[in-house]
Amino acid sequence: MPKILLEKITQVKPFLDERELEPLRESIDNKWLTEGPWSKLFLERLKEFTGSPYAVLAPNGTLGLFLGILALDLPRGSEIIMPSFTFFASASSAYFAGLRPVFVDVDDDTFNIDVNLIEEAINENTSAIMPVHIYGHSCRIDEVIRISEKHGLKVIEDAAQSLGVFYNGSHTGTFGDTSAISFFADKTVTTGEGAVVFARDEVIYDRLLCLRNQGRKKSGSFIHPEMGMNFRITDMQCAVGLSQMDKFEAIRQKRLRIDTLYREGLNGVGDIRFLKVENGSTFVPFRFVIRTESKDALISHLEACGIETRSFFYPMHLQPPFRGNANKSLPVSEGLYSSGICLPLHHYLKEDDIYFIVQKIREFFGE
Ligand SMILES: Cc1ncc(COP(=O)(O)O)c(C=O)c1O
Repeated sequence: MPKILLEKITQVKPFLDERELEPLRESIDNKWLTEGPWSKLFLERLKEFTGSPYAVLAPNGTLGLFLGILALDLPRGSEIIMPSFTFFASASSAYFAGLRPVFVDVDDDTFNIDVNLIEEAINENTSAIMPVHIYGHSCRIDEVIRISEKHGLKVIEDAAQSLGVFYNGSHTGTFGDTSAISFFADKTVTTGEGAVVFARDEVIYDRLLCLRNQGRKKSGSFIHPEMGMNFRITDMQCAVGLSQMDKFEAIRQKRLRIDTLYREGLNGVGDIRFLKVENGSTFVPFRFVIRTESKDALISHLEACGIETRSFFYPMHLQPPFRGNANKSLPVSEGLYSSGICLPLHHYLKEDDIYFIVQKIREFFGE
């Protein structure tokens, strides 16, 4: 029987097994569910792994970015520059923190913010830049930092997709004033929902602590010196996160292998183009992404073969809530949406699955 009738090849599937269950059981046995021993260890592991000295946890990447923006006390109504090609959360977190997202186009090869377009978007109302490290590699964050310093702007890095990605030897998310890495179920390392927020210095770190814990640095007191809310997560999530961190290298190696197999199998097929990894960046493939002018037809073909696909992001400057912010077309972001397809990429994929997907794509292009 052909494989397609047996099972669908899914886009993502988290790498979960007994190793997550064991510490989870301990949480239940200890009757300790909110932030506690596992959270402490998870945070320490993340700081050690990334080299960031200041880190707090958050309920998800969106709220992590929101928290990271709030901690910088930027003027309400001021503008934050970000790429149009990103997930909606980059823009929505800024919006709810009282800022006005201003979108610039991205680089046609790397899909990351085009650093040559940032300065022309800066005006007297600009307070910050939010670069995004898309699809598992770094943007030109050194250049973003240089521009921000020249113009006195803050930087919030959207590192949601870039756990384990280093740029010129430093981990993404450690360059800006604040940043957030997501642990959503489709991320390289997952806690179901969850995120870590990094801070450049102790002052910002103290702001993060207060903002995430009802305006106090530590629980136990009912005097709240500042304003704050509840951004805690659970110890059970951190138990899962710690086991996931133990698996990081295996996850990375598997993803790189899949990426290589796809590239070898699809090189020169039809009009397919690949992502180019930024110079100076390491790569932890987040999706396997291809571009083709036959996007819709190829998606239909693959879906009919039982291969789950996903489209690229719809540009932010065209999103209904942000259309008023757009004063021009951003052709690369628009082109990415009209040509981009994400192919399955997860730990449970077998080499035969990749050969099958490659074969179906080659068939589509008549090869
Ligand atoms: C680029 C980017 N930013 C922010 C987020 C938001 O993270 P979360 O889903 O954990 O809220 C995501 C999640 O997919 C993302 O891909």
